[in-house]
Formats: sequence, structure tokens, C-alpha cells
Amino acid sequence: MNPLERYAPLVDDREAFFDACERPLPSVVRVNTIRSAPDRARAALDEAGVGYEAVDWNPQLLRLDERGPGTSWPYFHGWLHGQEEVSALPAIALDPQPGEKVWDSCAAPGSKTTQLSAMMDDKGVVIGNDNNLGRLSALRHNAERLGVTNLVVTKQDGRNFSLKPFGFKEFDRAIVDAPCSCEGTIRKNPDTLDQWTLEHVHSVAAVQKGILSRAIQATKPGGTVVYSTCTFAPEENEAVVDHVLDTEDCEVVDFENPLESRPGVTEWEDDEYDPSVERTHRIYPHLNDTGGFYCAKLEVTA
Ligand SMILES: C[S@@+](CC[C@H](N)C(=O)[O-])C[C@H]1O[C@@H](n2cnc3c(N)ncnc32)[C@H](O)[C@@H]1O
Repeated sequence: MNPLERYAPLVDDREAFFDACERPLPSVVRVNTIRSAPDRARAALDEAGVGYEAVDWNPQLLRLDERGPGTSWPYFHGWLHGQEEVSALPAIALDPQPGEKVWDSCAAPGSKTTQLSAMMDDKGVVIGNDNNLGRLSALRHNAERLGVTNLVVTKQDGRNFSLKPFGFKEFDRAIVDAPCSCEGTIRKNPDTLDQWTLEHVHSVAAVQKGILSRAIQATKPGGTVVYSTCTFAPEENEAVVDHVLDTEDCEVVDFENPLESRPGVTEWEDDEYDPSVERTHRIYPHLNDTGGFYCAKLEVTA
């Protein structure tokens, strides 16, 4: 059975959901404002003969007519970075400011890390952490190409992340773009569900709870933590947020989401979650012609 069938009761338009999951994903690039203004990057694409359309909710995101951004010179020069439209959402929800200290707990290969740096005008510090060495080299390569200088790269298990090497005790903001069962990436990787098991969903949920807990502990009171996944499983989404609401000092807060979304679910199979998880966002592929995604914004309360 297609594992996505288990989410049919959660979606409002079953047919549109399954149709969208079978369509290839549009190719989207983000203009890297550290290296280029959006107008200049668009002019470079015009000159290179690459067709595009600006995403209506964000002039820095361009949908390309061609598949794959990696062959154009504006990409090699670091003016553009290939990044799925919906994957730009967590950094927007986090809203980092120039000069702040920001932790990206699961950073590689760096789409969101480099987006955070650009939003901070490359000022302050972003600690880009991941526990996978191979993926960290992709993060370093991307950061160099994009001209990011406010990044410190670390290799730690996010669940036990230590602030000892740094000259400060807490972050202003943190982002947990968690490892997940990746169900929402089916449009990009059609074989992503071949290895799907419920056991994996449960085991990765335990890791997600550990990393999100650590992010809340490492962020100052009043600071912001954003949690995101590219999966539909409530076990990896609302259940993880529900867990930290129980165990850590935090609450769910609203954020302005420019994409169409559905509220987080408060019941799934035999479980019930805190009513505030309704304020988190589920994004299904048919709603905005993107991948599937989940995003929650939390404020640290003590
Ligand atoms: C969804 S990917 C992150 C994508 C990245 N944020 C981006 O936008 O390019 C999840 C990442 O979590 C990392 N990861 C898995 N377990 C981890 C752990 N215990 N601590 C830190 N990172 C972990 C994986 O290596 C993977 O790179």
C-alpha cells in the first residue's frame, strides 16, 4: 500500500493531493542577496536566456522554466541558490535579525543556513551544525559559493549540542529543520517511499524530540525556535511539538505564512495533542504546487 494513503483522512481534496504528489516539482531558485540584488539576478537570467517567473509571495524566489539551476553562470557566481519554494518558509518564520546569534541545528547542505545569513545581512553569527560529515562539506561549499562570512560550522549531535566552544551561553533564535521520513519530497525523489516503515517514523521522531528539546534549552527566554519537517506524519510533526510543550518551557505562537496551509492536527490514531498545535502549519503539495511540509513557531517562555 502507498504509505501516503494513511494521510488521506487529513486532506480536504484526496484526488488533488495524490495528483500533485505524482507531478514533478517546479525548479525554484532563491536570489542570494549577499551577492546580488533580485533585479540584477533577474537581468543575468534574461541575458543567459533562462526563462523564469517570480513567486508571487517573495520576489527573491524564481520559478525557472528549465529543470535544475546548476548550469547557469549566475548560479556559479553565487547569485542564485536552488531551493524549493516551501523550504524558504522556516527562515521567514524565524525572522532572524542582523547581529543576532542563531543556531541551525540540522544545517546541511545549507539552503536554510545561507538564507538565514542573507536575511541577517551576513551580520551576527549563524552556527550551522549537522552530525553528517559528508553533508557538512556540501554546506561549506554552498556557504563559500554564496559568499557567507557570518557562519561557524560545527559537527555535533544536535540532541547534546554544547555551547562550551563559544563565548556566549544562549542563542537568540534556533531552527530545527529535522531529519525526517521525507514523505513530502516524493515529487523530487519518486522512490523516497520505497523504504518507508512505521518503525522508522517512530525512531526518527525520537531524534526529532531530542533535537527540538535541546534547541529550546539553548535559546534565551523570549527567543524563537522554529521546527520544520518535509513529512506528513503527525508522529514527526504535531507529536514532537506536543512533546516539547509538555517537557520544556515554551509555547506555540502564530506567524504570518504567505503560503496556503492547513492547521496542525490535534488528534491522530489513538493520540491527542495540545490544542495549541492547531496554530502550526501543514502544507500539502496540491495547495501551492510545492513539496509537502510542516512548520511550527515556538517562543521560549523561561
Ligand atoms: C532535512 S535535513 C536538513 C536540510 C537543511 N536544513 C537545508 O535546508 O539544507 C536534516 C539534517 O539533519 C541531520 N541530522 C540527522 N540527525 C542529526 C542529529 N542527531 N544532530 C544533528 N543533525 C542531524 C542530517 O544529517 C541532515 O543533514
